[in-house]
Amino acid sequence: MSTEHAITNRTLIERLSMSNSQDSNQKPLVAALASQNHAETLKDSEALELVQRRHAHLGGSILFYKEPAHIVKGEGIWLYDNKGNKYLDCYNNVASVGHCHPRVVEALSTQAAQLNTHTRYLHESVVTYCENLAATMPDGLDVVMLTCTGSEANDLAMQLARMMSGNQGAVVMENSYHGNTTLIASLSTCLSAADNRPDYVAAIEPPNTYRGPFRAGEANLGQKYADLADEAIAVLQASGQGVAAFMCDAVFDTQGSLEAPKDYFQQVYAKIRAAGGLCIADEVQAGFGRTGKMWGFENFDVVPDIVTLGKPMGAGHPIAGLVTSRAIADRFAEQAFYFNTFSGNPVSTKVGDTVLAIIQQQQLAQNCADVALHLRTELAKLQHKHPLIGDVRGLGMFIGIELVRDRDSLEPAREAALIIAEQMKAEGILIGATGRYGNVIKVRPPLVFSKDNADLLIEKLDKLLSELAS
Ligand SMILES: Cc1ncc(COP(=O)(O)O)c(C=O)c1O
Repeated sequence: MSTEHAITNRTLIERLSMSNSQDSNQKPLVAALASQNHAETLKDSEALELVQRRHAHLGGSILFYKEPAHIVKGEGIWLYDNKGNKYLDCYNNVASVGHCHPRVVEALSTQAAQLNTHTRYLHESVVTYCENLAATMPDGLDVVMLTCTGSEANDLAMQLARMMSGNQGAVVMENSYHGNTTLIASLSTCLSAADNRPDYVAAIEPPNTYRGPFRAGEANLGQKYADLADEAIAVLQASGQGVAAFMCDAVFDTQGSLEAPKDYFQQVYAKIRAAGGLCIADEVQAGFGRTGKMWGFENFDVVPDIVTLGKPMGAGHPIAGLVTSRAIADRFAEQAFYFNTFSGNPVSTKVGDTVLAIIQQQQLAQNCADVALHLRTELAKLQHKHPLIGDVRGLGMFIGIELVRDRDSLEPAREAALIIAEQMKAEGILIGATGRYGNVIKVRPPLVFSKDNADLLIEKLDKLLSELAS
């Protein structure tokens, strides 16, 4: 693996957030955020007081923007701040069916007014939800295990994979993020330097055909990237860890929203299974319609052994989980015990079931495919006009716009991405920046994003890119 692609020891915050600074590309993304002094930049004394109270008593928190967004209301694709300003939400995937969808609010409040307990009493809603969720999966993925967060779901998935395979090791992507439990943080390679990881973790280069070791135009890209798993598997076997699982996010969020070659996952899955491991599709970002299909893995004609779910599942309510086969779930049940106080409660499952019904009835996966097609066409025009845009890519409504200082050297234009994210807010648009170098603008709106919304985004982006160039 080239040193160019070796990661440095940055924190999650540095990797996943957008900085308020206009630092050089070398400076960690959010070094400035950590030391950010809102007292110097914030003019609004009311906002400053809230920031300071928050800082005094809220641990581990980060705030986007120089003038933090003080959001007090959400409706559909729009967010409103405490001054009544309206923002087009191009960032929040969690509010999948739109902010405060009336049917979700109604389901939640009606059930909360009636009963909310754990799953140790018989209740219709958890059973109905699991039936409906399993019905969206390929044959054989029948059993649902519910959690409250995506991190818990991935942690449980790794426990299942370890028991089923008898091995301990995991193959993951470089610069991955899968969650915050001790086990899953160790599989989240954006949190650690390559030389500071447990020997049950082996990371491979993601299939970045724009700036990775194998690039668009070359033959057999899927195979070339998949072959990188061979070394990871060999390392895990040599250390005695063996291969328990391959865990991957099909939209490659923290890698800057990548479009893997069509046959990539088929080839990696075959290698992992040949080594005795299980394939875990982390659908916490990709799932529930975002990619234009219900599940991200469906874009690649593979069937995972375990599918993990979260974020959009409850449109803001904390529900997550996994879906697997009866055989894997039974093996786990023979050896272990799983109880989670809050997961699968009647309120969560009513909400989850309502969100699922809305996605299906309003055909939101198809909406994502349609609007993404329109947006990609318009973004291609912007790319033609603005040299700063090096690449536009993604699956469905998870789009990455990679900014470069030079289209030949591909030098990342992180400052520009940060300025755009910051100034888009002033233009009434909330958007993010991501990727290994923080130079990829991330478009990941609620699934109800329309072509008119896309046009507004394009108009503002065009304006800012023109201003940056002048
Ligand atoms: C791909 C992926 N998996 C898992 C997680 C963890 O989910 P949660 O924050 O709900 O624990 C995240 C969160 O950002 C994620 O992006």
